[in-house]
Amino acid sequence: MHPQSKPSPTGLPTTRTARRQGSRAARADATLLGGLSVDEFLRIHWQREPLLVRAALPDIKPPLDTQALIELAQDDSVQSRLVTSFSGRWQLAHGPFEPDQVPSLRQSRWTLLVQAVNLHDDCTNKLMSRFRFIPDARLDDLMISLAANQGGVGPHLDSYDVFLVQLWGKRRWRIAPPGNDRLKPGLPLKILAQFEPTQEWLLEPGDMLYLPPGWAHDGIAEGPCMTGSVGFRAPSRHEFLREFLADAAESPGGPDPRFGDRGRSRTARAAEVPVGLHRQMRRWALDWRPTEKSVNDFIGRFLTEPAANVFFDAPPRLNEARFFEASRRAGFQLDRRTRLLYRASRFHINGESVAAPRLRPARKLLQTLADLRELTAHEAGQAIANSELTQLLGDWARAGWLHPANSRMPP
Ligand code: SIN
Ligand code: CO
Repeated sequence: MHPQSKPSPTGLPTTRTARRQGSRAARADATLLGGLSVDEFLRIHWQREPLLVRAALPDIKPPLDTQALIELAQDDSVQSRLVTSFSGRWQLAHGPFEPDQVPSLRQSRWTLLVQAVNLHDDCTNKLMSRFRFIPDARLDDLMISLAANQGGVGPHLDSYDVFLVQLWGKRRWRIAPPGNDRLKPGLPLKILAQFEPTQEWLLEPGDMLYLPPGWAHDGIAEGPCMTGSVGFRAPSRHEFLREFLADAAESPGGPDPRFGDRGRSRTARAAEVPVGLHRQMRRWALDWRPTEKSVNDFIGRFLTEPAANVFFDAPPRLNEARFFEASRRAGFQLDRRTRLLYRASRFHINGESVAAPRLRPARKLLQTLADLRELTAHEAGQAIANSELTQLLGDWARAGWLHPANSRMPP
C-alpha cells in the first residue's frame, strides 16, 4: 500500500511487500473485473452501476462440494437458512439443519444459504481475498447458496454492495434499479411487492454480477447450482451509535459525583421532579464528551469485533520457544478468522486495541502482517528480534489469533 523507494533501516523487504501487494491487484485486474482496472471499476461501477463480468473467475471450482456445504449447515456455530417456495408458498427456516432436513436436489424450488463460509474454509477465504482491493474494514463475508432447479430467494434488495459469483451450475439473474422498496406483506422473508426487471442474464460457472446497494435482484437456478455472494459492511449512523453508546455506558470516564440536596426545603408537590435533580442530570448528559482516544479506539474495536459465532481455539499451553522457532523457519500467518486493522499509531485486532510498536521498522512489519495476513520466514526473524513485537505476537499466538505459517489451522 505504501511502496518505499529506499530499503528500511532493518533491510525490511518493503519493495517486495509492495510487489506482493501489487501482483495481487494486477491479478484482480486481469479477469475479475472484465478487463477494467480496479481504479476504473471503482470510478464507474462501485456504489453506482451494476457490472456483469463473463468468465471473471475462469476455471472456477466450488470451494466446497454440495455435501461439505450441507455438513457445514449442520454446525451450530454456522449461520444457515433454508428458503423454499414449494407450491408457490414461501417458507424460511433457520439452521442448524439435520441432513434429512435439507431436501434432495431432485426436488425443485429450494435454496440453502450458508453465511460466512470464509471463516470455516481456506479455499473460500482465498476466494474472498480476491476482493481485498476494497479494505478489510468494508469486507464482510462470503455466503454460499446451494439451490435446486428453480430455487431462489425471490426478488429483493440488499442494503450492501454484493458480488454474485456463479460457482457451479447456472442461475438466471434479473435486476432492476433502486426505486421501489415496498415489500409483499405477510411473508417470512423480504420479497418486493413490485419487481420490473430491466436487465437479465444467465450466469454460468465463473461469471460474476456486481450490484450496488439498493438494486433489486432475483436469481433463479436453472438446474442445481451454487452461488457465492461476497458481501460488504457499511454501518449506519444508528447502528454505530447504538454500539458506541452501549460501550461508553460501561465506563463513561471522568469523575463520578453523586447527586445530593443537602439544605433543601420541604416540598408541597411530592410528584413534581425536583428542579435541582433535573438540572444536575441534564448537565451530566449535556457535558458528557467522549475523548478523541476513546472514540478512535472504539472505532477500531467495532470494526474488528469477531462475528458472534467465532471462538478462537487458544492452544492449551503455548510453548513459546517452539512457536517462535517454527515461525522463524516458516513465517507467521493470521488465523483466517482474525480481523486485524491499523490506523495511525494504533492496531486493532479481534475487538481489542493496542499501541503500535515504538520503532518504525517494527511498526512496518506489523502493518505488513495486517495487509498481507502473513510474514515470510525472513520477516518473522526480524519481528522476533524486536522485544515489543515478540511480546505482542506471543500474546496473539496464545489467543489463537496467529499461527506459524503452513501449520494446520483449526477448522
Ligand atoms: C442467493 O445466492 O441465492 C442469494 C444471494 C443474494 O441475492 O444476495
Ligand atoms: Co441479494
